[in-house]
Formats: sequence, structure tokens, C-alpha cells
Amino acid sequence: MRKAKIIGTGMAVPDCVVDNHLLARCFSTSDEWITQRTGIKERRVLPSTYRFLQRLAEAPDKAALVQAAYDQGVDGNIDAELTPADLGREASEMALKNAGVGIEDIDFIIVTTTIPEYAYPHTGAVMSAKFGLTSTPVLNLQQGCSGFVYALAVADAFIRIGTYQKVLVVGAEGLSTMLEFSDRGRDMAVLFADGAGAVVLQSVDGSSRSGFISHHLHQDGTILDKLYGEIYGSSTYPIVSKKKIDDGRARPTMNGRGVFTHAVRRFKEVMRETLDAQGLTSEDVDFYLFHQANQRILDAIAEYAKIPEHKMFNNVHKYGNTSAASVPICIHEAYAAGRVREGDLVLTAAFGAGFAWGASLFRW
Ligand code: ACO
Repeated sequence: MRKAKIIGTGMAVPDCVVDNHLLARCFSTSDEWITQRTGIKERRVLPSTYRFLQRLAEAPDKAALVQAAYDQGVDGNIDAELTPADLGREASEMALKNAGVGIEDIDFIIVTTTIPEYAYPHTGAVMSAKFGLTSTPVLNLQQGCSGFVYALAVADAFIRIGTYQKVLVVGAEGLSTMLEFSDRGRDMAVLFADGAGAVVLQSVDGSSRSGFISHHLHQDGTILDKLYGEIYGSSTYPIVSKKKIDDGRARPTMNGRGVFTHAVRRFKEVMRETLDAQGLTSEDVDFYLFHQANQRILDAIAEYAKIPEHKMFNNVHKYGNTSAASVPICIHEAYAAGRVREGDLVLTAAFGAGFAWGASLFRW
């Protein structure tokens, strides 16, 4: 029997930093409100979003500028010169370099993203084209913020049955493109941001001390209305229409309190399930790497599981919620900072739209 082990990590975020003060110049919010409710101080966004926010901050009639962007783009332009696939490629290159392997050594790629770059083909196809790949299989998972945990489980399964030896797993997001930077969209506009993270997984013998131990995945689609986006989806005919935009159905929708309550409950349940499956207590785990949704959710989990500060790595304050990219960015930064080390028992967990949630336990 084989199993997967992480042999390299990487990340990429756009250079454009948006702090809470810039957002407070674009719509009715404040650094205090955002910090208190979410712990986020700043986030990274694609240059196209950044240029719009700078214009919006200066605009005397902000509602008119937001409407103009939907009507004719920003200065007549709707193209983003940097996209999630670019970020995914950059994060992957770092992970490959850190693993000491090349893209040609990779047998299989999984890319996970919440908002695809095109409706079709998937973002993984766009990213693999940027590498010039012409035959490596690429799977794309659209599983919201829990996408990376799902992707790790799928990659590990392929490695365990011996199909693949080296798998590249990438989370890449350009969520700022879906946000409405207005009073109407402010609940989500302060939370979500852009970025990518990647890990290279290698097949190792099942008896190795390091590698993945177990995965625990769940979904409850019956309450998907608490966090969803019709945006360009085929829930409408035509798929894109002025009416869709005018009716507010091209914007993402979130019931913040509903998400908060379910997120905390499901994080607790899946952590317990993961620990029970191995007969462990929360103290046996050396390090926790959670999806960075917001600091209050992270604090609630830490309090419940009595996780001391030194066993957790959080970066939501500087990147916001990067959805499927948040877990691999966290994995990379925690490892690069020497916070998590070879031999550590690590529990990673995520919750997001769907609702879908899951956890993975591995020894680094
Ligand atoms: N700035 C200022 N005021 C705001 C903002 C904002 N950005 N957003 C909402 N408000 C207002 C609301 O309009 C409301 O005003 P009202 O009382 O006049 O109606 C008031 O603040 C309180 O709104 P609530 O939604 O009740 O605020 P709450 O304390 O619940 O905090 C928040 C909102 C931060 C969204 C919270 O519910 C939350 O963290 N939810 C989880 C959301 C989340 O993490 N989503 C991530 C996606 S899923 C995942 O990754 C786990």
C-alpha cells in the first residue's frame, strides 16, 4: 500500500494590497467594523480590481461608477491581465522548485477554485496551458472554500491505488472579480480576496512515518442558499443577461450569521471525527492549519478544542478569505516560517459553500 506525502509547497498573491481604509473610502464600512467582525486588516486583489477600487475611492458618485463598471467595464475595459491561472502557475512553480522536481515529473494535477476563470473549460485547463502541458491529466474541483481539503483526499486516493506517483494540487482564486464594492455588497466585499497556493504530493510506502493518515469529507446541499452565486450559471436563461444583473442575481449571496453558525458547528464535528478515527485527543496534534474564513470562526474553534496559540497558524489578517487557496497558502507560510516542521502531526480543515466541509490528518 502507498500513501501521499507533501514534498513541496508554494504560494502566490497579487502585489496589490487593499487595506480596510481603502474599502472604507469605497462604501460604508470602517477598519474598526471589519477588524472586530473578521480580524482582516488587508487583502490582495488582482490589478484590475485594484485599479477599479482606486477609482471608486476617489469617485464623488460611487453608485454611478459601480453601475458604469457593469454597463461598460472600467474605462471600457473588462479584461483582467492577471488571472487565477497565472497565480496558480506561480504558486505551482514555487512548490515544484521546493520539491526539487519539474512540471514534466508530475503525473496528475488537481486545481480547485470557487469562481472559474471561464465557464468552460475549467481553470485547471487554463493553468496547464500556461505550463505548455499537452497531455498531463488535470482535474478541476469546484468545492468552495473546502476545495483544497477535498483535492488532497482525491490526490491521496489516486496515489494509494498506485495510479499516480507525483500529483500537483493547486488552489487558485480571483474572488475579487465577483464582489460588488457597494453598500449592498459590503458583507462579502470585506471578506474575500485573491491568491493561490500549491503542494506537490509524492507517493511513499504506506509504512512511512510521514504522509496522509485520513480524510473526512461532508456536504449538506439542502442549505446551499446561505452562500451561493448564480453569477454566470445555467440556473437562468439566458445564462448572462442585463435582467440578471439588474435583479442582483449576478452578485454572490451570503447569509453571514447562517454561515458563521454552521461553519463553527461543522469544524467542531469534523475535528472530533478525525481525532476519534485515530483514537487521538486534540493535544496529540502538533499543528492546526485551518481554512482562513475569518478570525472569529478561528477563535471559536481554538476555544472549543483548547488549541494553544503556538499550535495554530493564521494569516487571515493579511490575505482575507481566499477560499480554495487559503489552506495551501497557510500550509506554505507555516512551513516556510518554521512553525510546522518535519515529523509534526498536522490537522487541516475547511468549511465553505455547499455547504461542504472536511478535514485531513497527516504527518509532515
Ligand atoms: N461594514 C459595516 N457594516 C456592515 C458590513 C460591513 N462590511 N457588512 C454588514 N454590515 C452591517 C449589516 O448591514 C448590519 O447592519 P444592520 O444592523 O443595520 O442591519 C450589521 O452590520 C450587522 O450585520 P450582521 O450580518 O448581523 O453582522 P455580523 O455580526 O453577523 O457579522 C459577518 C457579519 C462578518 C459577515 C459575520 O456574520 C461572519 O463572519 N459570518 C461568516 C461569514 C464567512 O466567514 N463567510 C466566508 C465564506 S464561508 C467560509 O469561508 C467559512
